[in-house]
This record gives sequence, structure tokens and C-alpha cells, in this order.
Amino acid sequence: RQKLDEYNSIDDAVNLLKKAKNIIVITGAGISTSLGIPDFRSKDTGLYSRLEHLGLSDPQEVFDISLFHEDPSIFFSVAKDILPTEKKFSPTHAFIKLLQDKGKLLTNYTQNIDNIEANAGVRPEKIVQCHGSFATATCTKCDFKVPGDAIFDTIKSGKIPLCKPCKEQIALQPQVLKRKRSSNGLQNSRKKGTFDDGSDEEDYDIPTPGVMKPDITFFGEDLPDEFGRRLVEEDRQVTDLVIVIGTSMKVAPVADVPSIIPSTVPQIYISRTPVSHIGFDIDLLGDSDVVVSELCRRAGWDLKHSMIPED
Ligand code: OAD
Repeated sequence: RQKLDEYNSIDDAVNLLKKAKNIIVITGAGISTSLGIPDFRSKDTGLYSRLEHLGLSDPQEVFDISLFHEDPSIFFSVAKDILPTEKKFSPTHAFIKLLQDKGKLLTNYTQNIDNIEANAGVRPEKIVQCHGSFATATCTKCDFKVPGDAIFDTIKSGKIPLCKPCKEQIALQPQVLKRKRSSNGLQNSRKKGTFDDGSDEEDYDIPTPGVMKPDITFFGEDLPDEFGRRLVEEDRQVTDLVIVIGTSMKVAPVADVPSIIPSTVPQIYISRTPVSHIGFDIDLLGDSDVVVSELCRRAGWDLKHSMIPED
């Protein structure tokens, strides 16, 4: 993406904000760090820097779907510390709500799974949770769904939540045996047939219930359909300003959004750390709560929850 020459300063950003009618806000973990929730990639404080003890080759594997199926305990050992609990929100969340109140918010594409936008009063139809959330959980075997908080106590107690209907099914039919598959997906060859249907003893295993997986989008899983549909079929055509806040923009496809938006639409980047792989028009570097508070002050907007003391 080629930077647009006419926009440079914070006052240009303020003018763009005042003029815009259809703002896309793209957010990441940086907008929640002031609430004590760690981001992922910040050196020393980010979640990934705290996971060395798990012995993974890459800490992102915590959210890898193949590893989850192999050993869900790795994810749940981390999940118990990142469950959304309190009904708090940051000034940056309040800023997104303010854009909504002013009729300027087209969509908030959030990569965050903490659901905190809702605490600030951002309406569900204004939010696309690109990486899902803890709001619901689904059985890995039978797709049974529960509200996310139904499994929070189990997760907090350090256990792996199992699917109740799967458990009941197994309890009802203890004699039911499940067919095992060999690695190439075909039935094992029947060398030691002992069961009365003539099949191999080793083709069977004791059935196990599915694990309840929070509906977070893991690496290796598709994003919710709503992400691509809304971006490409609706928002792309009408947006007149993009604001990216508190994200390293390292994870596709969210990282590709700036290049999907028409090149004439200005884009602002607000974060502690600059990025070099995407050309934004205006970079406002610093704590996002401070930056959005200053933008509102200059725009003459009343940001409840401001970081700037009122005089
Ligand atoms: P990252 O940790 O990669 O990036 C957070 C960015 O916010 C960094 O550039 C920080 O410098 C910045 N930051 C932190 N605190 C800030 C503050 N108070 N004010 C301003 N900036 C601040 O987090 P994400 O970009 O959100 O996916 O990560 C994207 C995805 O990678 C996540 O959704 C997660 C992860 O793997 C899944 O869990 C599937």
C-alpha cells in the first residue's frame, strides 16, 4: 500500500475523524493491556514471552488446532489465565463506543477474544470478532454448543472440559466400541479378527467424549464467514477512514485488510510499536488510551473515561 501524501500530522487525523462517516476500526490486544490483560508479542510482558515453560518450539502453538486435538491440556493450562471475567473496559474501548454514538462507526474488526467491546456498549452488529471469542464453546466431536461461561469453572480449576452429551451417550452404551482408523484413513488390515462381525480387535478403541473447545479461531482454522463477507461485499465499498489500534498486524488475514481497502481511503495507525510492513498514512505512536484521548480533546469530543484529567 502506497502512503497518501496529504495526511501526516495529528491534526490531519483529527480532521479525518471529524469528516468521516464510515470508519473501520481494526483492533488488537494492545487496547486491553491497560486493563492488565497481556498482549501476545510485546517483549517481556506479552503472553508468548511467558510460555517458555511449556517447551513449545513456537509459543503460537498454544493456539494451533492440530496440537489442540493432540493434547488439549496445553491450551487449557494457558486459557485459565486469559478468561474474560470483569466487566471493565479501557478508554480506547470507550473511544470506539463514542464513534458509534456519533454514527461514524461502520465496523470494529477485533482480533481480541476478551469480548470487552461489549462491556463498553459497542453494539454486536458493529463488531466482527475475527478470531472468535470465549462467548461460546463447541464439542470437538459432536458439535454440541454451550455458553462459554458454562465451562469457565472447569477451566479455572485446571481441568479439561468434556462434552456432557458425549459422556451421557457413552454411559448409556458402555459396550459400544469405536472403530479406530489407521494413519492413511483406511481401516486397519484385519489380521487378528476376534469380534463377531469378523473385524480386527485392534480396529477398535474405547470411545472417549469430545472436548469443549472455546470458539476461538485457532491457527489452522477458518475465520468466521462474517469477516470476509462483510469486508469484501459491504464495508470495502463505503468506508472513508481506517483506524488500526493496538495490533502488530502480524496475523493474516486481518493483517491484509489495509491492502483490501481502496488505496484512496486514508489509514491511521495507533500503537506503542511502529510497523514497517504496512504503509499507514498517519502513525500516532504511544499508549492508545492517551492517543485517543488527545484526538478527542482536539476534536472537541467528550470522551467519557478519558486519560486526560478534566480541568
Ligand atoms: P500483538 O501482541 O501481536 O500486538 C499488540 C500490539 O499492541 C503491539 O504492537 C504492542 O506494542 C501494542 N500495544 C500494547 N499495549 C499497548 C497500549 N497500551 N497502547 C498502544 N499499543 C499497545 O497482539 P495482536 O496484534 O492482537 O490470535 O495479535 C494478533 C493475534 O495473534 C491475536 O488475535 C492472537 C495472536 O496469536 C489468536 O489467539 C488466534
